Amino acid sequence: MKAFELRGFGLDSLVLTERPDPVPGPFEVVVRMRGASLNYRDLVLLRGTYDPNLRFPFVPLSDGAGEVVAVGPGVTRVKPGERVVLSYVQDWVAGEPVPSLVARRLGGPTDGVLAEYVKVPEHGLVHAPTHLSDVEAATLPIAAVTAWHVLFGVGRVRPGDTVLVEGTGGVSLFALQLARLAGARVLVTSGSDEKLARAKALGASAGIHYRKTPEWDEAVLALTGGRGVDHVVEVAGGANLGRALRAVRLGGEVSVVGFLEGMRSELELTQAIRRCVTLRAVSAGSRTSLEHLIRALEAHAVRPVVDRVFPFTEARAALEHLASGQHFGKVALAFPG
Ligand SMILES: NC(=O)c1ccc[n+]([C@@H]2O[C@H](COP(=O)([O-])OP(=O)(O)OC[C@H]3O[C@@H](n4cnc5c(N)ncnc54)[C@H](OP(=O)(O)O)[C@@H]3O)[C@@H](O)[C@H]2O)c1
Repeated sequence: MKAFELRGFGLDSLVLTERPDPVPGPFEVVVRMRGASLNYRDLVLLRGTYDPNLRFPFVPLSDGAGEVVAVGPGVTRVKPGERVVLSYVQDWVAGEPVPSLVARRLGGPTDGVLAEYVKVPEHGLVHAPTHLSDVEAATLPIAAVTAWHVLFGVGRVRPGDTVLVEGTGGVSLFALQLARLAGARVLVTSGSDEKLARAKALGASAGIHYRKTPEWDEAVLALTGGRGVDHVVEVAGGANLGRALRAVRLGGEVSVVGFLEGMRSELELTQAIRRCVTLRAVSAGSRTSLEHLIRALEAHAVRPVVDRVFPFTEARAALEHLASGQHFGKVALAFPG
């Protein structure tokens, strides 16, 4: 089969190669990939800033969907011909995070989905949403599951709450769509007026340009009558986290998801303590979160926002497009056939 291998850090080390077709063992499933999607994580893994100890060669990319083509002895959850989505943290089926959360994630350190066929344990996949294409389904495992987990897993978003999402990338637009489904009001920040307008068309009630208004936390307070938002989906990190703490209400929640602005933050702890803010870090979500997410998307016919789809063989161009920051929502790949 054709697969991309990363043989060292940097885009020049991404090589299209041949690998043996996988054969399923007991309780294993082989999936012919039809769609994949990219995450910011793929970029930082590739650059070497996320996991400097990554072992090469490995197959990158975490998010994929496709068709079951072979099952090993004992498999009961799926049959050949069925459409499936792969779960990102393969062994996290439900409940609390599992010890293998870091060690066994598709797309680093475990081989990922940038290959024509992928073998996974049967507990590491779910049936694909009936209303979505394979490419759309492939946008769900990391970004949408994380947004779901933040809002409804560890978070407790209620109708009437105000949720702040930062930027218009994968996690943030899913958080916008899901928070709207739950009856929450959504505020969005972006570095682009055009993207702010598109986010409003998706249901955001107000937008703040974080470059034109670097003190965006003050704009959030103004938009909420001085109260602050109930929840912040904090994807920027770095110095931005301090602003998130000032933008959240007394007793509100800041979910630390990402580090687009920086991996280190210096915090005024009293900001959080005096105001009883719940500050929590979130790492993806379980297979059960993926199942609950799919049920909600199907019930309300919600479709992911797909910015652009590249052919499988143009994975490098897709990664460069993601790195450019021009995208609105998810960047995806379609496999041939
Ligand atoms: N903890 C987890 O489980 C988890 C899961 C998924 C992602 N993440 C992390 O969350 C972050 C977002 O991931 P993603 O895949 O959604 O990224 P993405 O799709 O590449 O989105 C990036 C977007 O964020 C916005 N942005 C960039 N710098 C910003 C800043 N300083 N302040 C506000 N917005 C900014 C930009 O939107 P505009 O062009 O609109 O400004 C940019 O297009 C990454 O750090 C990623 O590693 C963590």
